[in-house]
Amino acid sequence: MRATERTGGGRARTGVAPPGADGGVPLARSLPGASYTDEGLFRREREAVLYRDWFCVGRAEMLAGPGEYLVADVAGESVIVVRGGDGRLRCFYNLCRHRGSRLVPPAAGGRPGGGPAEPDATCGAGRAGHGRFAGAIRCPYHAWTYGLDGSLRSAPFLPDLRQHRAKLALHPVEVDTWGGFVFARLEPGAGGPLAARLGRIPARLARYPLAGLRTGATLRYEVAANWKVIVENYNECYHCGPVHPELCDLVPAFARGGAGLDWDAGVPHRDGAYTFTATGTTRRAPFPGLSEAELNRHKGELILPNLMISLSADHVAAFTLWPRSAGRTTVICDFLFHPDEIARPDFDPSDAVRFWDLVNRQDWRICELVQDGMTSRRFAAGYLAPMEEPSADVGRYVARLLDPSAAHEGGE
Ligand code: FES
Ligand SMILES: [Fe+2]
Repeated sequence: MRATERTGGGRARTGVAPPGADGGVPLARSLPGASYTDEGLFRREREAVLYRDWFCVGRAEMLAGPGEYLVADVAGESVIVVRGGDGRLRCFYNLCRHRGSRLVPPAAGGRPGGGPAEPDATCGAGRAGHGRFAGAIRCPYHAWTYGLDGSLRSAPFLPDLRQHRAKLALHPVEVDTWGGFVFARLEPGAGGPLAARLGRIPARLARYPLAGLRTGATLRYEVAANWKVIVENYNECYHCGPVHPELCDLVPAFARGGAGLDWDAGVPHRDGAYTFTATGTTRRAPFPGLSEAELNRHKGELILPNLMISLSADHVAAFTLWPRSAGRTTVICDFLFHPDEIARPDFDPSDAVRFWDLVNRQDWRICELVQDGMTSRRFAAGYLAPMEEPSADVGRYVARLLDPSAAHEGGE
């Protein structure tokens, strides 16, 4: 439910056929079905997209002090983000340079299938745990020990290795933050800085105190759908009428597919409503500093490949997607609140959590139906209605990263 930020999102004229290309049917084509269902193509996408772009791995609030770390599973690659004694965030592959042991055991994966959401903030596939190192990272196997900057500090009975500390440092991953979100790029130097990737999003959300917000609740889902099905679904509201009756009651324009909505200005609620809860109201105070429009409207942003942010005046629903295979994605939905609200003795996030859980389940169900349908031998590619045009950004983005030379020829 948001048009993609296009500055870094790609305008490559590849991957999505234009209207009329299909024997005169006046609709653009979606990506081919195999792009969503084929494991070989998923592995290509992992290398070219998920490991080469800025991937959101969590919130900086988990990494407040020296030694605090989080472990994240980025499409099958386990990484550690840690705050050093110098206050800097660093990120490494969760991989000992000696014999390859994991330094921090990744937690067991979540349950497959569209099971119920778990009120579980930290464990399972995706964001796989967090904690605090006591000044160093010690491998559980033979006790090679690394500093919080990743350099090898000691290796038992191998004093000669001291002079090779830098060479035997942990494999680095790029890390940066914006708005309290931590992003990692597993292929260092694969593209521009995070700020370029974010484009105008920080300016559009400048009045929301994102960096200072704290997580007050978390939902976690295992969705039997390709990650692109989920972000494409987020990027259009053509489906809102048939899929989200309660949401359309809250935002009447959604019942018309969101046509004509100006997302930059925020989408208006029905009279008397101003936030995403069943009643459209809440006891929580709005964030300080919002504009008059932001106090009454809803905003959304998609930061490809894996962060979707939905912003109400009093809370933010931040979704991170964790692709696991061509047909499976873990979705973690963090609810962010002002810390003053969380500190209140009567703090209760359930009005927002319940409403979002309802809408989320409606979305995941329909995404799973699409995913399952696309496995049919008769499915080649879908069609995109004009009001689904923002969804085509996803295909263009993936195509540009899969084949940068074709994107260039396409006139980018
Ligand atoms: S594998 Fe890490 S110390 Fe041996
Ligand atoms: Fe939806």
